[in-house]
Amino acid sequence: MTLCLLALLLLLCCSVSSLPPPLPRVFLSFEELQASQAFEHYRISDKPMDYRILHMDEDQDRMYVGCKDHVLSMDINNITHGSLKVFWPASASKIEECQMAGKDPTHGCGNFIRVVQPYNRTHMFMCGSGAYSPVCVFINRGRRPEVGLAGAIQLVGEQVFFIDSRSEPGKGRCSFNPQVNTVSVMINQELFSGMYIDFMGTDAAIFRSLTKRNPVRTDQHNSKWLSEPFFIDAHLLPDGTDPNDAKLYFFFRERLTDNIPTYSLCLQNDIGGQRSLVNKWTTFLKARMVCSVLEEDGTETHFDELESVFLLETEQPKGLLVFGVFTSTSSVFKGSAVCVYNMADILTVFNGPFAHREGPNFQWVAFQGRIPYPRPGTCPGGAFTPDLHTTKEFPDDVVNFVRNHPVMFNPIYPVGRRPLVVRTNAGYRYTSVAVDQVLAADGSYQVLFLGTDKGTVQKVIALPSNHSLHEDLILEELEVFKVQTKGLTFELFALQQQLYVSSEFGVSQVSLHRCHAYGSACADCCLARDPYCAWDGLSCSRFYPTGKRRSRRQDIMHGNPLTQCRGFNLKAYRNAVEMMQYGVKNNTTFLECQPKSPQASIRWLIQRDNDRRKEVSLIRRSDRVFSTEHGLLIRSALPSDQGLYYCLTTENGFKRTMAKIRLRVLSDAMVSVLTDKRQSPWGWASSVHPKVLLAAFSPAETLAVQQYCKERNLQKKQQQQAQPPGPLRGDLAKLKPLLDRRKSRNRRNHLPEV
Ligand SMILES: *[C@@H]1O[C@H](CO)[C@@H](O)[C@H](O)[C@H]1NC(C)=O
Ligand SMILES: *[C@@H]1O[C@H](CO)[C@@H](O)[C@H](O)[C@H]1NC(C)=O
Ligand SMILES: *[C@@H]1O[C@H](CO)[C@@H](O)[C@H](O)[C@H]1NC(C)=O
Ligand SMILES: *[C@@H]1O[C@H](CO)[C@@H](O)[C@H](O)[C@H]1NC(C)=O
Ligand SMILES: *[C@@H]1O[C@H](CO)[C@@H](O)[C@H](O)[C@H]1NC(C)=O
Repeated sequence: MTLCLLALLLLLCCSVSSLPPPLPRVFLSFEELQASQAFEHYRISDKPMDYRILHMDEDQDRMYVGCKDHVLSMDINNITHGSLKVFWPASASKIEECQMAGKDPTHGCGNFIRVVQPYNRTHMFMCGSGAYSPVCVFINRGRRPEVGLAGAIQLVGEQVFFIDSRSEPGKGRCSFNPQVNTVSVMINQELFSGMYIDFMGTDAAIFRSLTKRNPVRTDQHNSKWLSEPFFIDAHLLPDGTDPNDAKLYFFFRERLTDNIPTYSLCLQNDIGGQRSLVNKWTTFLKARMVCSVLEEDGTETHFDELESVFLLETEQPKGLLVFGVFTSTSSVFKGSAVCVYNMADILTVFNGPFAHREGPNFQWVAFQGRIPYPRPGTCPGGAFTPDLHTTKEFPDDVVNFVRNHPVMFNPIYPVGRRPLVVRTNAGYRYTSVAVDQVLAADGSYQVLFLGTDKGTVQKVIALPSNHSLHEDLILEELEVFKVQTKGLTFELFALQQQLYVSSEFGVSQVSLHRCHAYGSACADCCLARDPYCAWDGLSCSRFYPTGKRRSRRQDIMHGNPLTQCRGFNLKAYRNAVEMMQYGVKNNTTFLECQPKSPQASIRWLIQRDNDRRKEVSLIRRSDRVFSTEHGLLIRSALPSDQGLYYCLTTENGFKRTMAKIRLRVLSDAMVSVLTDKRQSPWGWASSVHPKVLLAAFSPAETLAVQQYCKERNLQKKQQQQAQPPGPLRGDLAKLKPLLDRRKSRNRRNHLPEV
């Protein structure tokens, strides 16, 4: 009983602070996610091991993750089931040298695996930082051969995973410092890496290695090419139909090029120049990606640090979209934004004018002179240059032009010239993104999964609007790790409807949807506005656009239960079971009311005697009466506070009555009879000693009260954060007749009247 009262008091401590909008409609803690069926978490130690998802093999259903001294091969259907692990530490001598050099013994002097790439059918190639001395090995990831019928060897046996070569130097393949990103792509058994090639971390390069041809790199210490880059990602993307025109795109940000993120490309048929740029890329170009908001007064707010990219293949509009998460380096505000770029716009910029420095101020202008042929950046052997076989055949003027003009003049603007999502002063920043295209009943939606720098994942949809910004909804926020953590990496597997997230502390697998978490009523399912979910007549469940069931209700664009849930007991939302509550004169009373969603607004109405319902005035009595996220707080209760209170919530225009509480304010005389002098400032509940209270109940009633308390405490635990509450009102309703009976018995026992 005491516990129960305490739970009531705890509500008060965390109420008045108002969180910055917009809020996630549903928040699921790590424990709640674990309790759901749609979540798995894996780690090999409680220590931070800095996990990175490095490669997805969707054909083999495997996912490869690197961390400190280990590489993991996971089953993408269930990452905790049948994970294979290889232990690959740095050598003792390298660890000692690393420590002697003064590097961080725990976070630097390990072998942090940063490259895992498929090499051939049976082997992967992987590299680690090797305690500031990068190393690489081949790893066998095939299946143990089994001799089948007629002596045929079949590769259907047990999955194997072991190091299958001597280690070789990893310089030019993996950064020395594990804090410095390495990005890599394997194409035709050649490894392309973006990393720092030296121990000091001053020589950044995009390097081709593991090749039978000559190794090729970016021009060394040429800040026109790379200026202290931070590599984010790399992808091979087609350009037209000729495979020779396919280009490798590196996404990175730079420290010194006017603080604007850049991004560049190289070609796989590039083997360097003949006389100039020998063993250097001769097709290296880069362009700036802009993500900014144009304010109404004409000022432009830039989000200038690229954090993460995600490529989405779309049917409508046809083509490839590049989603980028950007943060702001502004000292004035903490913010981040998501911008989306069309691949066609990117190609246009790379086919546009080159940037050139000119004039007394050395300003960037569009290059107006003659551009040599073939156009710099063109691939040898592609659709435009079928007669050239390698870049060594390029004329000198082409190679020299590239060396001096690697930057495109026009920046790449996002679709609509504005971000899809902007978040400022929210207490967190976005750092990673994955996107799923979802077909809903009223259209196709891009569902964004955004990782925050506090280690949570938000599920967001952006709705079209006529304002300068899109309207976005945070459908869910998921605490995918037990502790706050940075540096999330994402992989999304649309076919399996799974998102994989890695961090310092482990790897989590979470389903893209948990429709049941929105509650079982039609209105709640509709208000959730989750394109994955629809109300099927009985519950909130997965929506399949091809399904034929006619009763499915879904309305992402408007989220209006009045149109979607007609005929499904909508009137019930207008009513709530009345319950009785006592307050003590001159002391504090709390009327609990938990809205279903933090996005709902709350109104309190009071009905005195048989008068009309009136708004509880919070302004006039603001020093005494507060509306909090959890309910109405009345300080120094007056007899005039007595009445029937209605807690009304409005979410997206949908009104409901969440609580109906009849408050009676007891006089001092009445209370002194009930209490044993040990009183707290929290009104009736706490001012009445539990023993006194229990003594007033019959054994059956006591049992019911204890049951109520147990359920309440359980709920409180589950509701540490905003989430759709369980059957709270129902429980209170159970208590109500009990309290009423106690009241009448008290009268019989000649207790003073109020
Ligand atoms: C994943 O595997 C673990 C361990 O084998 C098992 O306990 C869990 O139920 C599995 N999860 C799913 C969703 O199948
Ligand atoms: C794959 O490459 C490894 C390492 O070079 C080699 O040992 C292995 O035989 C190759 N496997 C196949 C099937 O080519
Ligand atoms: C935008 O404005 C147009 C015309 O003014 C209107 O028809 C349309 O419904 C508006 N769209 C939204 C999402 O408000
Ligand atoms: C009620 O509280 C006020 C101040 O909080 C105090 O001045 C007053 O004496 C109290 N009245 C009673 C009856 O306790
Ligand atoms: C109200 O709370 C105060 C502080 O705990 C207490 O001293 C006082 O007796 C209470 N008043 C009544 C009428 O219960």
